[in-house]
Amino acid sequence: MKSVKKTFIVVGNWKMNPDSILEAKALFSRISRLIKNIDKVEVVVAPPAPFLSDLAGKAGGIITTGAQDVSAEERGSFTGSISAREVQSTGAEYTILGHSERRASGDTDALVANKLKRALEAGLKIVLCVGEKERDEHAHYLRFVREQLVTSLAGLSSKEIKSIRIAYEPVWDIGKSYDKALKPNDIHEMALYIKKVASEILGKKDGLKIPVLYGGSVNFENAQDILKEGGVDGLLIGRQSLDPEAFSNIIHYANNL
Ligand code: PGA
Repeated sequence: MKSVKKTFIVVGNWKMNPDSILEAKALFSRISRLIKNIDKVEVVVAPPAPFLSDLAGKAGGIITTGAQDVSAEERGSFTGSISAREVQSTGAEYTILGHSERRASGDTDALVANKLKRALEAGLKIVLCVGEKERDEHAHYLRFVREQLVTSLAGLSSKEIKSIRIAYEPVWDIGKSYDKALKPNDIHEMALYIKKVASEILGKKDGLKIPVLYGGSVNFENAQDILKEGGVDGLLIGRQSLDPEAFSNIIHYANNL
């Protein structure tokens, strides 16, 4: 990865797509070609785990790779699980943790916190997803997000915190129609709230510096306002990260801001 100052981080979460390594390589190369002059955005792609080794370190280092999850265990008899060290050994630098689709399959706050410890030990950077399932008029959702942050971040050192990015993804806004994405003002409010809570947990010096990304139904149209007015340090993008043109347009926009 080139050592230039990054202003934004854009993470593509491919989820369980595409079907084959051939398609994955073609998609990865196409994105790499479209963003080859990018110098102010850190671009991370999280493909399905079987494709990580093939994609990590490819494309001249323009794109950093990441896993979509890791195990809370170090190694051993855990059939079907993938350890943080295994991910790190592919050349991947990141892992997403606590994505709502993993939480829906049983990841509790405590389990996510354990996965985070394993990922830190393996030297991975982490995109820690938090976000409420629904909004209520009494703002209990704020407490819900605070709890997710406290369980994962409490007790981490300043050095460990440097490896963590928070992705705020309101669960009700993932995979929805793009014109329904949360508005920049509301995103800004949540970004400030997350930094405030992080400061309470970690102290102001570390807490305020923690990058906050937004994710949930981001496309090229709404990404522009979110990057300009949402007060975030980047984006976590699902569906549109599988569309090389749309994904690279968002990255170019971020690069030129
Ligand atoms: P989406 O997914 O951009 O397709 O809404 C975001 C995510 O799940 O990370």
